[in-house]
Amino acid sequence: MSEAQPMISTTKTAKRRTSNRRKTSSNGKHSLRVMTSSKNNKWGTPKEWFDYLDLEFGFTLDPCCEHETAKCMKHYTPKENGLAQSWADERVFMNPPYDQIKLWMKKAYEESMKGALVVCFVPSRPDTEWWHRYATKADEIRHPKGRVTFDGADAAAPFPTAVVIFRPRW
Ligand SMILES: C[S@@+](CC[C@H](N)C(=O)[O-])C[C@H]1O[C@@H](n2cnc3c(N)ncnc32)[C@H](O)[C@@H]1O
Repeated sequence: MSEAQPMISTTKTAKRRTSNRRKTSSNGKHSLRVMTSSKNNKWGTPKEWFDYLDLEFGFTLDPCCEHETAKCMKHYTPKENGLAQSWADERVFMNPPYDQIKLWMKKAYEESMKGALVVCFVPSRPDTEWWHRYATKADEIRHPKGRVTFDGADAAAPFPTAVVIFRPRW
């Protein structure tokens, strides 16, 4: 791995289907507010982070974006509603709108059961309901070192990012 690449350590989940498995700001409320503000719902994934993961996974679908922030030729904006589309057989890169993470993680998990590979670029939030319900069912969870400065953000995120990987299950 070259030094220019993001540093990512990995936690493999023990048994995918059977085991349901921050510099945080000192002010938890601030961190939560930043996570769910309407602005950061549209924060883009920095190119170097996407490229790094794309090299490994070869993504074919970005299910939640604007045309301007789309990471793949095939993509869905709110108009097409990525939640209502099939992702089966796609290799999906998903950085979801933060105010609906639970819905998107549910979709990621369910689509992996229909044959999709889904890589979720999400806040690391092991204390949340969505994490316990869905992230713990992932095949692998990676923990990038440092904080991501998202496109459109003024500064590095006040929360750590996780890369949650659901591999296809037919
Ligand atoms: C955090 S941004 C990620 C953008 C881009 N995928 C990226 O990684 O840079 C989430 C995006 O999802 C879009 N979005 C929200 N609801 C959606 C829906 N139902 N279907 C498709 N896209 C949606 C938002 O408009 C926003 O652009």
